[in-house]
Amino acid sequence: MTGTNETRRKVFLGLMGGAAGLAFAGGAKAGALVDDSSKVFRLDGGGSTYAFGVNAEGQLQSLYWGAALGAGDKLPAAVMVEGNSSNEVPIAVTPYEFAGFGGGLTTEPALKVRFPDGVRDLDLRYTGHQVRGEKLLVQLKDVKRAVHVALTYAMDEATGILARSAVVENRTGSWIQVDQMAAACLNLPYSDDYQLSFLSGRWAGEFMLQTRAVTPGAFFVESRKGVTSHQSNPWIALSRNTTGEESGPVWFGALGWSGSWRINVEMDAMGGLHATAGYNPFDFSYRLKPGESLASPVFYAGFSNEGFGGASRIFHRYQREKILPNAPAPRLRPVLYNSWEATFFDVDEAGQMALAEKAASIGVERFVVDDGWFGARNSDKQGLGDWVVNRKKFPNGMGPLVKHVNALGMQFGLWVEPEMVNPDSDLYRAHPDWVINFPGRQRSEARNQLVLNLARKDVCEHLLKVLDELVSSNNIEYLKWDHNRTWSEPGWPEAAPDEQQRLYVAYVDNLYRLLAELRRRHPKLEIESCASGGGRVDLGIMKLTEQVWTSDNTDPYDRLVIQDGFTQAYAPAIMMAWVTDSPNFVNKRVTSLEYRFLSAMQGGLGIGANLKHWNQDDFAKAKRLVQEYKGIRATVQLGNLYRLVSPRNGAPRSATLSVSQDRKQAVLFAFLHSSMMRSAQPMIQLRGLDPGAVYALRAISGSAAPGTPARASGAYWMGRGVKVALEGDFQAAAFVLEAQAVS
Ligand code: DGJ
Repeated sequence: MTGTNETRRKVFLGLMGGAAGLAFAGGAKAGALVDDSSKVFRLDGGGSTYAFGVNAEGQLQSLYWGAALGAGDKLPAAVMVEGNSSNEVPIAVTPYEFAGFGGGLTTEPALKVRFPDGVRDLDLRYTGHQVRGEKLLVQLKDVKRAVHVALTYAMDEATGILARSAVVENRTGSWIQVDQMAAACLNLPYSDDYQLSFLSGRWAGEFMLQTRAVTPGAFFVESRKGVTSHQSNPWIALSRNTTGEESGPVWFGALGWSGSWRINVEMDAMGGLHATAGYNPFDFSYRLKPGESLASPVFYAGFSNEGFGGASRIFHRYQREKILPNAPAPRLRPVLYNSWEATFFDVDEAGQMALAEKAASIGVERFVVDDGWFGARNSDKQGLGDWVVNRKKFPNGMGPLVKHVNALGMQFGLWVEPEMVNPDSDLYRAHPDWVINFPGRQRSEARNQLVLNLARKDVCEHLLKVLDELVSSNNIEYLKWDHNRTWSEPGWPEAAPDEQQRLYVAYVDNLYRLLAELRRRHPKLEIESCASGGGRVDLGIMKLTEQVWTSDNTDPYDRLVIQDGFTQAYAPAIMMAWVTDSPNFVNKRVTSLEYRFLSAMQGGLGIGANLKHWNQDDFAKAKRLVQEYKGIRATVQLGNLYRLVSPRNGAPRSATLSVSQDRKQAVLFAFLHSSMMRSAQPMIQLRGLDPGAVYALRAISGSAAPGTPARASGAYWMGRGVKVALEGDFQAAAFVLEAQAVS
């Protein structure tokens, strides 16, 4: 259903009314019909419909979100929900689109404000709307005071992903304090079998998929850390007991915000489900002077009736076509080499040149010098913040290495961590006031570093200047932008006490501005978002960075599980994965070079091994697999991903399939954890192929079981499947299927 031409429908924005309900004219064309007595807004896109209305009190109330309704279907006008007893006020059980805290609301508010006279009651009512192209804007206002809210709804025609956000504006004559603000509240009707899925983790263990039953009460996922975080990622999915990987309903959403965030999932007293996503109210407070406004981040929500696989495929497509730099045609990820695991801080001109020559010999396209090239940076204890080339390590500056790398046919990239400073650095000695801190209090260090206060104009100007000079001074085409600690003592002493907590928003807004300006000045520069691995992966940073560092855990087996969780929410187009040394530094696991390659080839391929330790055979294997990767990477990065067999929960085997958009190529990766009890290998049934086309099967690595045909129809591969010959521990195989030209 999702993404197919047959079901793709025009975005429809209709404001329709009538006491007897609403009839949608066939064809569902973009446009608006208005009935002053009873109002319904309906948005259609991909395979879904989203509808809400204005109830008799003038409040905005959800009506429907799910599988696409028929063009002629009627939606009833919005009516406040009655509780099951008179002690339950309707406001506590009505599914609001964007509720203010006030009037007896006891579920999660979307907006909570304080007025100078101590009033904390906010009752938002509909005042108007406009349709602007793909966007629907709805205006709300407090019943008494000039607090205005503008809601934006943008439904993507192809995928049905709905981007929702809000802006609150203070038009009163004095300040107001915003204590809580969401982008949106999404509602689903009562059911006793909802499941909530979310991604949790830690350093070296990001993107672990968790699923739990939704029960009465509230549950939230969040970051209080000033950054997106490893511990929790701002994505959730709601499904039913019967939903599986490829069937059943999934409602999902992800917040595009790289600071502290919260998604609250709550079942009210009558079983209605509310998911409210926005700024984390933890330590949040944002003062708005008269005339000022505050915008929320964007909450992106989608629906699929094709299980978690269908949900992630439409979300990946949306990211490729609407979010990533260069969308709708994001550039393919080059094969990169990164020095980190090979040389750590011990980088120098001769050593990096030698690595670059070896990297070029296997087909690497981008050579990246990681941490250690600048200032007095010989360990993580000093030098951070001093973005000048270390002349002991690079006596002639970075120029000779960059030229050498370019002459070898590769792009050159550098690691930076602009938002941080070691106290033992020239920058901190000159500007101890530039870090986030509370005066006279401890400045807690993590990884021996402090966080620069990007809310400050002077800090941002300094960073823009040094980064601009760095990128301009040499042919630097890529930055790995790292962020290696979370916040502590979140003070901003230069701001007025009542305005200091603006830090949570101002820091991230300025980070986005800094990245955008740097990109504007250097249009061919590409950037990777890294935060000690996958600590800053979200749709906010993704608009400004081509790729992300998925995890510092480069063990190829652990990575299968991390990648399985990652792709629930995020596209393989951005997911970097490296082939590193064996035993792996995180867990001492020993795996073959082929296994490491096949694990990493499911995303943007990188090599992070110490090539000085490789033998001729390793180079020959790597060269062949890099060459193979270049032939399949468009399918892997930009195709449709099917997680055929999940590696979660210690599964004995796993498999993924990527199918190109035109269905002419498919790539199958299969992994065996360990052979047990001489158990038989199951057939792996493929998905997403053209059943009528004939595909030739070719092994990239490993082999299919004897008797597997060399070519067969898509129907055959999807019906009968492929049996992969795998025996032993940590074994892997990969195949490419190419559709044959019809003669
Ligand atoms: C953390 C990153 O995730 C690593 O890849 C590496 O760049 C180090 N920082 C460098 O300090």
